[in-house]
Amino acid sequence: MAKILVATEKPFAAIAVKGIREVVEQAGDELILLEKYTDKSQLLDAVKAVDAIIIRSDKVDNEVLDAAKNLKIVVRAGAGYDNVDLAAATAHNVCVMNTPGQNSNAVAELAFGMMVMAVRNFYNGTSGSELKGKKLGIHAYGNVGRNVARIAKGFGMEIYAFDAFCPKETIEQDGVTALSSAEELYATCDVVSLHIPATAETKNSINYELVGKMPKGGLLVNTARKEVIDEAGLIKLMEERTDLKYVTDIMPVAHAEFAEKFAGRYFSTPKKMGAQTAEANINAGIAAARQIEGFLKKGCEKFRVNK
Ligand code: 3PG
Repeated sequence: MAKILVATEKPFAAIAVKGIREVVEQAGDELILLEKYTDKSQLLDAVKAVDAIIIRSDKVDNEVLDAAKNLKIVVRAGAGYDNVDLAAATAHNVCVMNTPGQNSNAVAELAFGMMVMAVRNFYNGTSGSELKGKKLGIHAYGNVGRNVARIAKGFGMEIYAFDAFCPKETIEQDGVTALSSAEELYATCDVVSLHIPATAETKNSINYELVGKMPKGGLLVNTARKEVIDEAGLIKLMEERTDLKYVTDIMPVAHAEFAEKFAGRYFSTPKKMGAQTAEANINAGIAAARQIEGFLKKGCEKFRVNK
């Protein structure tokens, strides 16, 4: 009987945990829950005897992998796996997977919630503007980007996308105009929605020069990662360009400075909540449990992200 740990500092909805438990128990395994932990020592303790771990944005580093002597697989119930040290996992002979696409509608819906809030002046009672007819730039056309495009059509937006890795034809099949560079996307669009992963290449890449290309009244929406933003550059730009707005689902390191300097033009959720819906939790959590059982029982490595 394998021991499968759900380690979520930000817990799944209870109904998702119930679904995960059913998958695990039907496979004859044991589910262990570590939710809302506040200290890494709790995680280090919980991983000691487990075969598999389901996480969200929880950090799995070398220390966690060292402590988890029986560990065979970690599944990040979600898209981005920048919170897992992939090289260390490979060195520990641990398989790492994500569950692509399972929470992407939730994130895309939040991007629109934040867009509407921003163009309506954060509901302060003044006259705002509409998304209809505005040019939307989708920066990276993966699962979330595609959902953003689908929803944007309902709003009547003109939709553009740039993705360095996605063929133009794939983007244009969806009725979205594919642009050739990030610079072109920012120079073209009134609203840019970020969907790039946090990697060595993308870190700090959303900077003064790039965002500075946006037309007057530009709105940057970040439901991706805080690491991709050059915070000092964005602060400098927003000081110079009092027309720009920034809304984010990932609180910047310099949140206090953004909030103080850009009242009425800046908003951050207190905790990343793009994927925090019952539906996304069910989809991603149950997919993670199934992937673990497929790996443990049948050696299935679909969605493996480390070598
Ligand atoms: C993801 O990468 O899947 C999203 O950022 C959601 O992250 P979360 O599971 O921590 O909410």
